[in-house]
Amino acid sequence: MKKYFLLTPGPTPIPPEVAQKESLPILHHRTSEFGEIFNEVIEGLKYVFQTKEDCFLLSSSGTGAMESAVANLISPQDDVLVASCGNFGDRWEKICKIYKANVTKIDAEWGTAVNPQEIKDKLEKNRNIKAVFTTHTETSTGVVNDLKTIGEIVSKTSAVLVIDAISGLAGQPLFKDEWKLDVVVSGSQKGLMCAPGLSFIAINQKAWNLVEKSTSPRFYFDYKLMKKSIPKKETPFTPAVSLIVALAEAIRIIKKEELENIFKNIEKLAKATRAGVKALNLELFAKEEVACNVLTSAKLPENIEGDKLVGDLRKEFGISIAGGQDKLKGKIFRIAHMGFIDQFDVIVGLSGIETMLKRAGHNITPGKAVSAFKEVL
Ligand SMILES: Cc1ncc(COP(=O)(O)O)c(C=O)c1O
Repeated sequence: MKKYFLLTPGPTPIPPEVAQKESLPILHHRTSEFGEIFNEVIEGLKYVFQTKEDCFLLSSSGTGAMESAVANLISPQDDVLVASCGNFGDRWEKICKIYKANVTKIDAEWGTAVNPQEIKDKLEKNRNIKAVFTTHTETSTGVVNDLKTIGEIVSKTSAVLVIDAISGLAGQPLFKDEWKLDVVVSGSQKGLMCAPGLSFIAINQKAWNLVEKSTSPRFYFDYKLMKKSIPKKETPFTPAVSLIVALAEAIRIIKKEELENIFKNIEKLAKATRAGVKALNLELFAKEEVACNVLTSAKLPENIEGDKLVGDLRKEFGISIAGGQDKLKGKIFRIAHMGFIDQFDVIVGLSGIETMLKRAGHNITPGKAVSAFKEVL
């Protein structure tokens, strides 16, 4: 018999009430019953994104929403700026290049955040830049970017600001309209406490002006088609109906709890987890002043093989955490504290990591990490 503890920064565990909704009889997507639920989800997404403007929903993982943003906003040979501080920031560059944009790139050192001043400088240098692409919480490193300042800077130019909030939405503060973020994309499998398979786009009028002009090819991902369908309370094509019914339940839970309280709770969990990691005699990977709240990243000593630790933890105890990506492969681990993950889940994670580190000969005092975690809470 084995228990499973899902503590990866996506997918994350989902509440039983949400899971139950996925098993209900399938509704046809062109009926008033489904239309009411779809409408509730779209209105609920506006609350989650903190926007009064258009929200769309796609049956795809988060990357689909990222690609849709590029396909709808950018035309071949457009100048764009990608401000990256990790693997997911780099994904914007890859997508933009496939759509034949001229990419200028800012590369912040991994573990640090994008410097808003660099964005300002690049925009001043090249006034033809059509869009700036960056990330809310960079899941590969555990860093949060200062979107409020970046939003202020980009709003004073003609460029459109596009944000990947796939891991940060509903976990780390983000106020789309107030922070002047023109397009924000996200996914269902993290802070929104749903199964993977849905992605979302929130878009304002400034960005619509680019959509009107974009000549990039798109069919399934066409925002104009999506916008036309919204008043009919439906999607242009068959949506993932069961996931949408489940998402409606997840958003009800989020609304009941209120975003403000969710943000505070997750911030507390993040502080406690960082204390727990330090008590394991490990160094945090993300610089503490820019560490995000939705996950914690930690450096592993050179003599400990990260992928083995993560694999053994899963195989032996059923505890899933994430390892490092790309150049951080084998060098760090990442543990999530967002969505339906609570303090006792994180305690299980820290305790399991402690066991594996001790086995690998790392110098730690058993129980110290959990104590440090609880003390902060
Ligand atoms: C910040 C960020 N961007 C993009 C992605 C990619 O999303 P998906 O795997 O849902 O396509 C992820 C997923 O881990 C993410 O955390």
